Amino acid sequence: KETLKGRDFLTLADYSKAEISYLLELSKRIKQKRKNGEIYEPLKGKTLGMIFEKSSTRTRVSFEAGIYQLGGTGLFLSSNDIQIGRGELISDTAKVLSGYLDGIMIRTFAQKDVEDLAENASIPVINGLTDVYHPCQVLADLQTIQEVKGSLEGLKLAYIGDGNNMAHSLMIGAAKMGIDVAIAAPKEYQPLNAVTELATGFAENSQVVVTEDVVEAVANADVIYSDVWASMGQEAEQAKREKAFATYQVNKELFSHANKDAIFMHCLPAHRGEEVTADIIDGPQSVVFQEAENRLHAQKALMVALMG
Ligand code: CP
Ligand code: NVA
Repeated sequence: KETLKGRDFLTLADYSKAEISYLLELSKRIKQKRKNGEIYEPLKGKTLGMIFEKSSTRTRVSFEAGIYQLGGTGLFLSSNDIQIGRGELISDTAKVLSGYLDGIMIRTFAQKDVEDLAENASIPVINGLTDVYHPCQVLADLQTIQEVKGSLEGLKLAYIGDGNNMAHSLMIGAAKMGIDVAIAAPKEYQPLNAVTELATGFAENSQVVVTEDVVEAVANADVIYSDVWASMGQEAEQAKREKAFATYQVNKELFSHANKDAIFMHCLPAHRGEEVTADIIDGPQSVVFQEAENRLHAQKALMVALMG
């Protein structure tokens, strides 16, 4: 607990298995308090700034509602409205905001920008998604898997589709927590080699596999995960990507190769009929809305741990 105070949360790679486990445990307690209607305001008087250079439903609303529920205040800072959008340096922004706020959440393109912000800020910086990582999502995902499956170690997660920010954070989070992870992606859309190597290095009791073969990936899987084929910023590549990923759809046929009680997960937003069929995402094995709800609880735990 003491090792988390004042820290940044830029990637799960920076967090130990024990620290991730602590956050999951805290999130579980915080979720229970909310279910019981208990008031819990350890961040009274604290302010979180939330910088968005990309769209968001879940991240924005769960952080904003979360900080309010913890007794604090959230400021939504669209990059169109703050001076970053007109070229003010990230380092200057970081130094200025550190004088006003108690924490900053940022969603942007380059991971380097989040690192620059963190380096120049004297308050915790939380990565709310970059082109490379989406660690807050994976915290909620791990909580969801734990809730549904009872534990994490020894499970297998198959991720089908683009080797993007989700694939990267899932590989790292799963490897750290003892979950086998298999990524199935077309050759030119596989995860960055550096991230695959990083995740492989974290895997002690688990395996990290990257393949083009969807059936190999889902064999014996307990969790099947998918994400959009064209991420934010890649809209112009939609048609090209639809072609490249055509055989990477999660559907009934693919599901039949996984374990019988396998669950379906997706960070959302989803495109039914592209990366996943409606019968799967809206079917009995899908946990996507439980997963989305857990964003709130997991990020409240994160804010309490870092900003408390
Ligand atoms: N999963 C997720 O981060 O959703 P938003 O883009 O709506 O925040
Ligand atoms: N890979 C997606 C995730 C959205 C939450 C994107 O970056 O747009």
